[in-house]
Amino acid sequence: MIAGMKITDALLVEHGLLYITMDFVAEYLRQVKDLTEVKLLASMLERLLDAHGKGEEHFMLVPFDHILEDHGQREQMCVAHLEIDVRLKEAQSATDLTVAKRLLKGAISATRKHFKSEEQFVFPQFEKLLTVSTLNSLGKAMMEQRGAHSGEE
Ligand SMILES: [Fe+2]
Ligand SMILES: [Fe+2]
Repeated sequence: MIAGMKITDALLVEHGLLYITMDFVAEYLRQVKDLTEVKLLASMLERLLDAHGKGEEHFMLVPFDHILEDHGQREQMCVAHLEIDVRLKEAQSATDLTVAKRLLKGAISATRKHFKSEEQFVFPQFEKLLTVSTLNSLGKAMMEQRGAHSGEE
């Protein structure tokens, strides 16, 4: 039998990979001279962050909103997801290389800040307020939705 992974741990692992992705994009961006490359990077990040944010909202923030001490937190997180998404979409519709780069860099730094605040203030609350078994089944449900299966149990 394969042990589950808490949803909070799964989300942290995703943050870890997304930090690496964003570092790469920010570094690579310095040498980019072609607008279509900026757009490609922005659309890749948009897709990755959308999947991550939807997972947080669908499996944690929305169903367990009522257990958070500060009810504004869920809204703050969802608004941050929307704002980041808008910036990444704007980067893809920009017609100027410098503007597109600035928008993409802005989206990356907003995302880093957003991740830090989830790691500091949001995930620990869920870890404190939900049981390990609930956290594990949420983790399993999210991984399955991502298309990852742990095989026979
Ligand atoms: Fe988030
Ligand atoms: Fe997150």
